[in-house]
Amino acid sequence: MTGARFRPLTAGDLPGLRWAGSPTLLRALRADLGRGADVEHLAAVVDGAVRGFGAVDLVVQPGRGALFGLVVHPAHRSRGLGTALVRALEERARARGARGAVLEVEVDNPRALALYERLGYRRAGTTVASWTAERPDGTTYEHRARCRVLRRPLL
Ligand SMILES: CC(C)(COP(=O)(O)OP(=O)(O)OC[C@H]1O[C@@H](n2cnc3c(N)ncnc32)[C@H](O)[C@@H]1OP(=O)(O)O)[C@@H](O)C(=O)NCCC(=O)NCCS
Repeated sequence: MTGARFRPLTAGDLPGLRWAGSPTLLRALRADLGRGADVEHLAAVVDGAVRGFGAVDLVVQPGRGALFGLVVHPAHRSRGLGTALVRALEERARARGARGAVLEVEVDNPRALALYERLGYRRAGTTVASWTAERPDGTTYEHRARCRVLRRPLL
């Protein structure tokens, strides 16, 4: 039991999410929250505070919910919150008619890979993903990462 409650993540949550990453990441998250019904963002709330969040894109892959942007507060990891978040996002995808779930995990993130494989995800190749990242001095750069593609049926 994680004691977590799940609800939609909103722009009003962003000021409380500095633990999750750089201002650049939070700006990207704010932009993504404006995409409307194509993507659902969920907040995992523990004792009244957002301690984890993630999203599922319902349009990028026909018939599949594409999970992305999962983060759990460092002080709340290894308690099942990541697991509960994945299951809650899968449930949203299922409710919207998806027959499968897909996600990408960087090849050098063995902890996340182990979590997803434990949850029934299977390897389905590799891809290169890129996104804007931020250096400690605040300058940004385009980060490119080799990722494993993982899939799981939802029916
Ligand atoms: C990946 C991530 C989301 C996992 O979140 P989490 O809340 O730690 O995940 P869980 O607790 O469900 O499962 C992870 C671990 O907890 C253990 N665990 C699960 N439930 C548990 C419980 N009730 N009690 C104790 N341990 C538990 C699992 O066995 C697993 O073992 P590990 O600690 O050796 O890894 C988190 O580590 C994170 O935010 N990482 C940084 C961002 C990131 O890499 N995101 C993924 C991008 S694809």
